[in-house]
Amino acid sequence: MARFTLPRDLYHGKGALDTLKSFDGKRAMVCVGGGSMKRFGFLDTVVANLKEAGMEVELFEGIEPDPSVDTVMRGAEAMAKFQPDWIVAIGGGSPIDAAKAMWIKYEYPDITFEEMCKVFGIPPLRRKARFCAISSTSGTATEVTAFSVITDNAKGIKYPLADFEITPDVAIVDPTLAETMPKKLVAHTGMDAMTHAIEAYVSTAHCDYTDPLAIHAIRMIQRDLVGSYNGDMEKRDNMHNAQCLAGMAFSNALLGIVHSMAHKTGAAFSDYGAHIIHGAANAMYLPKVIAFNAKDPAAKARYRVIADEMKLGGANDDEKVQLLIAFLRGMNDALNIPQCIGHYGADSYPCDQGFVPEDVFLARLPEIAKNAIGDACTGSNPRIPTQEEMEKLLKCCYYDTEVDF
Ligand SMILES: NC(=O)c1ccc[n+]([C@@H]2O[C@H](COP(=O)([O-])OP(=O)(O)OC[C@H]3O[C@@H](n4cnc5c(N)ncnc54)[C@H](O)[C@@H]3O)[C@@H](O)[C@H]2O)c1
Ligand SMILES: [Zn+2]
Repeated sequence: MARFTLPRDLYHGKGALDTLKSFDGKRAMVCVGGGSMKRFGFLDTVVANLKEAGMEVELFEGIEPDPSVDTVMRGAEAMAKFQPDWIVAIGGGSPIDAAKAMWIKYEYPDITFEEMCKVFGIPPLRRKARFCAISSTSGTATEVTAFSVITDNAKGIKYPLADFEITPDVAIVDPTLAETMPKKLVAHTGMDAMTHAIEAYVSTAHCDYTDPLAIHAIRMIQRDLVGSYNGDMEKRDNMHNAQCLAGMAFSNALLGIVHSMAHKTGAAFSDYGAHIIHGAANAMYLPKVIAFNAKDPAAKARYRVIADEMKLGGANDDEKVQLLIAFLRGMNDALNIPQCIGHYGADSYPCDQGFVPEDVFLARLPEIAKNAIGDACTGSNPRIPTQEEMEKLLKCCYYDTEVDF
């Protein structure tokens, strides 16, 4: 038996924030990040709409990018005091993911972070509150997914929490919120969405319910991402839907080792001054992982379908896989994303010498490879790498060398 779960309601299109006016509840806790939602007036609209619905509203502000366990614990404490029956999270993946984890801790005050990390082991929620997610970036699709990614800063590791319990009750996908994204964010979140769709399509857990969502998302992202990056607002609006479709696919089909590697490298070099931003990490690793996975015949056949749906040409499966890899690398170039860690600058742009020194990378490689294999996303990848293969793969991602194993 398999399960396919999505939010009960999804409101999309311009003006979708209005739906908050008809919410039924007493107290809403609004969780938000560092200021962009306030600056552009979206937070005021959310608060006003919830008040119009007759609710008392309290804010939990300042959730940082790549939210930490500490922030989750602080948010849960604030919820324990305020006793909301609605949790409304607005912003990018970071505040929404943090709010999801706060929600678990609010419902189960004694649960530890380690217990929350047990894949598909979260106890039933909704005893105290329901959850509404309003996304302002076009990538993570956390407004429709069963996932939340929380960083343990002490360990420098990102932990994905995974359970359909944390799939939101209501998702609001209003493209107006995505229009204020700076270019770099458009690029990173857009390639995150492309990675979600491709990994979901080749995942061992894919099915007839997830495939059409993944393929349609891939075609939309191929058509609209670069234009959105270059300022076409119609394409920007389309991307907000495309990333959400990709999210519906991967929330139910799961992901693969591109994400395992991104999770375990993201914060691994933060002592050298930067994170490897999630979407940029995915964009760099995806072409390498496709070359690795394509050694598996079933995965190769799935990549062929993707290449055909994208109308990339090619006379046989090998050529089609190569054309897919070349196309994705071309997208990285068009979006000013480096092709490898060695050329990933602290500002995330391509440069000659990236912020991760070679000797540091090599010294940490065995541990990172081990953590990546142990990541929750590895199990549904079509080819399970050994420790040696994962180390080789990560090296290809550092030096931008060909994957021939
Ligand atoms: N839950 C999931 O299923 C899932 C999937 C992929 C990634 N993630 C996680 O999500 C996080 C990344 O989320 P993200 O990429 O959405 O970025 P983010 O939430 O970290 O936001 C990045 C920055 O963009 C700003 N911002 C957000 N929306 C804006 C807008 N409309 N206009 C202007 N500025 C805006 C924020 O203030 C912040 O400074 C990572 O922690 C990643 O691991 C989660
Ligand atoms: Zn992702």
